Amino acid sequence: MHHLTARRLTALSLALLTALSLSFGPGALAATTWPAPSSAIVGVRADSAPSFSGSAALQHVNELSVGIGSRVAGSPAQDSTHQYLTTQLQGMGYQTVLQSFPITAYQDRGSKLTLGGALGQSVSANTLVYSAAGAVEAELVEAGLGRPEDYEDANASGKIALVTRGDIRFADKVDAAAKAGVLAVIIANNVPGSFNGSLIGMSAIPAVGVSQEDGAVLRQAIRAGGATIRVEVNATSAQSTGANVVATRAGGPKTLVIGAHIDSVAAGPGANDNASGTATALELARVLASRPTPYTVQVVGFDAEEVGLVGSSYFVSQLSDAEKQAIIAMLNFDMVGVGTESRAGGTDSLVRLAQAAGAQEGVSVGQLGDGLGGASDHASFMRAGIPALFVYRSNDPNYHSPNDRFEYVDAANLQIAGNLALDVIAALERGE
Ligand code: BES
Ligand code: ZN
Repeated sequence: MHHLTARRLTALSLALLTALSLSFGPGALAATTWPAPSSAIVGVRADSAPSFSGSAALQHVNELSVGIGSRVAGSPAQDSTHQYLTTQLQGMGYQTVLQSFPITAYQDRGSKLTLGGALGQSVSANTLVYSAAGAVEAELVEAGLGRPEDYEDANASGKIALVTRGDIRFADKVDAAAKAGVLAVIIANNVPGSFNGSLIGMSAIPAVGVSQEDGAVLRQAIRAGGATIRVEVNATSAQSTGANVVATRAGGPKTLVIGAHIDSVAAGPGANDNASGTATALELARVLASRPTPYTVQVVGFDAEEVGLVGSSYFVSQLSDAEKQAIIAMLNFDMVGVGTESRAGGTDSLVRLAQAAGAQEGVSVGQLGDGLGGASDHASFMRAGIPALFVYRSNDPNYHSPNDRFEYVDAANLQIAGNLALDVIAALERGE
């Protein structure tokens, strides 16, 4: 292995960073008042290179969950979180960038459909997330699948369009309708039952979904000789800004991404969810920075996870195909400080490495719990075809509650997560 001095490594990092031309969004680094990381942290293993310290990680949990407290994306507390990570990671020798992005908080308060006008027959409907709010009443017309070409002969301007789900995205159907002068869109399911769906951003006109059965009722009303319908969407949306902290230490053309979400819900201080994962990522960053690695290490604090994986989705959306292909793996830590058993989910080959790491460490690594496949930031990477591992612990009784407090986070659990991660990284380095 090469023995690079710190100074040479920094110069190399800068050169490689430029060569890789990473595409980060706008964002500025704020001046900071956080203390630099301690250099006297002693790991628990006797190796010459520093090893992961659960107690050092616990210090980060304290700073985040007690020092800062609840860390809601877009709130002023997040400036402190961004500063804390930036200072810590720069102190370890990483180049950092704040990658900011918009957050749209959408709150659905229900939709109503009334066939035959305000006093007519009510039909149940689901708001499509990011539908414009409002109430409109007009003639209902059919417009096939709701593709742009379906409006050529539909004579739908100033009317409400009934379209069928399928073929193109919901957002594209709503855009095509708005362009054709349609006042609101009703999307009927193409399989029995109702559905929930989401647009990509706020739409220009109200958009709701109905079951296949109710779609047939509406279609029959149109064919029976014209129908008037009232569409009412009750919803609010608020715009704010989040930012991922992206720290890079160049080491080669391939990249290992270590990630954790840095935001919490408003209900509590988020000590386990997810100061624990953030702390684990920071401590891993310290350990990895102390070794020469033949790959680039990127440590990312993802903002706005709790509002729908927004930060990690944005991060992935800014990667070129070449950058995506260069990622060896994304290792995601979310809720690793409390609970009864380590669990691993994500890409099969990485889950197997995590289970082997468990055997090595003498701890059980259980299967991903039901419904958690898309519950954290690894999912954004997997959707883009990037291998990702999700490490957490099962059964936190205080999940998303005011009691998700520092005192329940156990350094021994952080130690386990850190050791598992380093074992998985070692296996990846061996080409497993
Ligand atoms: N930390 C949770 C996910 C989680 C739950 C991990 C239980 C381990 C055990 C995460 O922050 C979260 O709350 N996710 C949401 C979904 C997300 C897309 C908003 C969830 O699970 O409801
Ligand atoms: Zn979480």
